[in-house]
Amino acid sequence: MSNSLLRVGIVGSGGIAAQHAIGWNAFPQFATIAALAEVDTARAEAFSLTHTNSAAKIYNSLDAMLADDAVDVVDICLPHHLHTDAVIAAAKAGKAVLCEKPLCTTLEDARKIKAVIDESGVPFMSGHNQVFQPSLIEARRLMAAGVIGKPFLMRSIETFRNQAYDPYSYAQMPPAGPRGWRTDVKSAGGGELLDTGYHSTYRLLALAGEDKPVEVTGFLSRFHIADWPTEDTGQVTIRFASGAVGEILTSWAFDVDGSRQFEVSGSLGAVGGGATFVSHQLYGWPEAARRSIPGTHTFTAEIGQFIKVVRDGASNPADADAAIRVLQVIKAAYLSARLGQTVSLPDDPSADPVPGKSTPTPFDVEVLDDVLA
Ligand SMILES: NC(=O)c1ccc[n+]([C@@H]2O[C@H](COP(=O)([O-])OP(=O)(O)OC[C@H]3O[C@@H](n4cnc5c(N)ncnc54)[C@H](O)[C@@H]3O)[C@@H](O)[C@H]2O)c1
Repeated sequence: MSNSLLRVGIVGSGGIAAQHAIGWNAFPQFATIAALAEVDTARAEAFSLTHTNSAAKIYNSLDAMLADDAVDVVDICLPHHLHTDAVIAAAKAGKAVLCEKPLCTTLEDARKIKAVIDESGVPFMSGHNQVFQPSLIEARRLMAAGVIGKPFLMRSIETFRNQAYDPYSYAQMPPAGPRGWRTDVKSAGGGELLDTGYHSTYRLLALAGEDKPVEVTGFLSRFHIADWPTEDTGQVTIRFASGAVGEILTSWAFDVDGSRQFEVSGSLGAVGGGATFVSHQLYGWPEAARRSIPGTHTFTAEIGQFIKVVRDGASNPADADAAIRVLQVIKAAYLSARLGQTVSLPDDPSADPVPGKSTPTPFDVEVLDDVLA
């Protein structure tokens, strides 16, 4: 496979598949969209016309597409609850797999996925597109160069006012409409935290680098989507093995001032950023130095890296273990919110979170009797 054109089959021709198609079409020397699998044939035909000039073969099921030897890569752009079976079937068929976030909706499924990927040995990457945001890459470069010293606090923010769930537009959606599966917790597998919060979680873990999350406390709210059975907003506090504290703020109810996406404060200074800027402030500076950094189409950057993973075995920032760790943190936050207590993360990213605090970290503080009095 390594030197020939990768023949890509995209499963699902909805909203995100269109972004992936832009990505694949940016690398015509390495890849071509050869096939589509979609239950809605009219949608697939329109998609094929727009993105492949009707060249892609159209199948009405993934299984039919997997039988096609002229497909090397399967790009899964299906609703959350269909990811597990699709990843497993594609890997068993020997295809390289790119799968949209979230990897899946349960850790049990994550373990099944991991077993099949390991056994088949196919390249696998999860859709952590925002790790390719240039501002985040620059902030991580600054951190690696030591400019903020030892990180104490890492914050990742992914918030927007989700108009699709405003009562007016929500009422207009037919049950089987494009957002139909998102309005059913059984198929969505969770609320905002599992969906959009997935981005803030993998961004936080990217900022933490080798530092392992060990403890999670979750806090969920429903501010905006009144007839939604679960959260539209999540706040999650994570203790890392180094003692650094992570925070995730994610919401469909509101955005934050300046649309900031991350902040890290350390022993020497702080760094922060959004989609198109990075700021950096050493303690004592009157204000932060702020630099504009052009954004990028992160799906194209992601697909560019995936092509390198498949062709050259390049580094993979979203392999199965990384994707499973993201899900473990989110599941831990749900468990914590339900129990009203902190939960611990086992070392194995696919293992279930455990109620209770983990082993002490270097910055833990004892709560003294005098303070409680
Ligand atoms: N990375 C991001 O920023 C981002 C943004 C949006 C969505 N996503 C992810 O992409 C995935 C898809 O989301 P979307 O917004 O494109 O959804 P969507 O509802 O717009 O599209 C899903 C498509 O899958 C098709 N489909 C459903 N069942 C099928 C089956 N069994 N076989 C073949 N096709 C089938 C539907 O007909 C539809 O066209 C989700 O998991 C979501 O989390 C990621």
